[in-house]
Amino acid sequence: MIKLLHIVGNRPQFIKLAPFLEATNKYKDIKNIIVHSGQHYDYEMSKIFFKELGIPSVNYNLETGSGTHGSQTGKILIKLDSILSKEQPSVVVVYGDTNTTLAGALAAYKLHFPVAHVESGMREYMWRPEEINKKIADHCADFCFCPLERACQNLQNEGIPSERIYFTGDITFDAFLMNKTIANEKTSLELPDSDYIFMTMHRAETVDIYDRVNGIIEALPQIPMRIIYPMHPRTKKRLIEMELYNKLKDASNIDVIDPVGYFESIKLMINSKIVITDSGGVIKEAFYASKMCVTIDDTTEYTEIIETGRNILAGTVKDNILANVASMLSKASDSYTGENPFGDGSAAQKMVSILLDRL
Ligand code: UD1
Ligand code: UDP
Repeated sequence: MIKLLHIVGNRPQFIKLAPFLEATNKYKDIKNIIVHSGQHYDYEMSKIFFKELGIPSVNYNLETGSGTHGSQTGKILIKLDSILSKEQPSVVVVYGDTNTTLAGALAAYKLHFPVAHVESGMREYMWRPEEINKKIADHCADFCFCPLERACQNLQNEGIPSERIYFTGDITFDAFLMNKTIANEKTSLELPDSDYIFMTMHRAETVDIYDRVNGIIEALPQIPMRIIYPMHPRTKKRLIEMELYNKLKDASNIDVIDPVGYFESIKLMINSKIVITDSGGVIKEAFYASKMCVTIDDTTEYTEIIETGRNILAGTVKDNILANVASMLSKASDSYTGENPFGDGSAAQKMVSILLDRL
């Protein structure tokens, strides 16, 4: 029996967990244990993904909740010790680059359990909490599952032995392919009858800094198209604190809505004219959905997409955003016939095969 213990806690991790579990289904000798850190906890940030994607109930919920980086990471670390010791997993699987990822990888490494890191090797080479989270997770991992060839190269450059590095492609692409056709049918969410832009924004480096978020908020009401914007709870909290929330709520072209489920998100994306976002996951999905995307940030992990010309780094200054949105709207119907560097949509199956082969 191979026991895989998955540690998840954030919205995008629930979405990545689903294809992984699906890929294990045909193997009777794999047992999955799911640990939810509780970093995300609102219904629309957590439970809805389990419901929509058919993820079984979690075996453990650590109920960590919100807090500082130290308290979140520390609480997860402390609680994982006894769970890992009790469960004795064959491999601990962690996803992405959040505080949950860091704590999960570190707890497992210190207790001598093999670690698999899904979405390994991504780097921005700048100060960001996520940068150190993913770097440490990579250095704890026995199985570094890379979404891009460049990610494999990054790990080699850091001295990680090549027998730990695997190019699998991006598990978010698996999720997208599995759900893109059913997303339309599986949700009753009504689409607008006119063209619209799909938007998300949540990164701390954007929404926690007044000048940066204010530049974006000033630009949005001047965009000559309707914007559908499911707002992350972090953003809502910050905008209210900064007294910017009403500027968006009152803008006639912007529909600020609560966070939506995965099917709703994919449906809104696929039917949109273009996408505006600072989310790593949404940047990739826009590319998979053949949508032009304006990234409201100065950097992205996914430089390969920028190089295709289908995504542009617009920063957070109002005039730059307006110019880049206009440019992407004018190219919205351009098709893409180039390569997809994120693999073939079978990342999860490759990961499971590697684990079965090596264990
Ligand atoms: C976290 C990750 C980020 C990831 C994002 C995905 C870290 C350091 N950051 O950021 O990399 O892109 O998740 O969405 O791990 N809140 C709620 N309800 C919830 C969850 C959060 O109200 O269910 C609010 C709280 O006010 C909280 C704030 O959002 O303080 C931030 O949540 P947190 O989990 O700390 O970070 P995210 O911004 O979600
Ligand atoms: N997403 C969602 N509902 C929303 C906004 C986004 O389901 O209201 C999905 C989106 O389709 C993508 C993932 O959440 O699959 C991205 O998560 P997020 O932007 O929170 O984090 P990041 O990818 O930046 O870490």
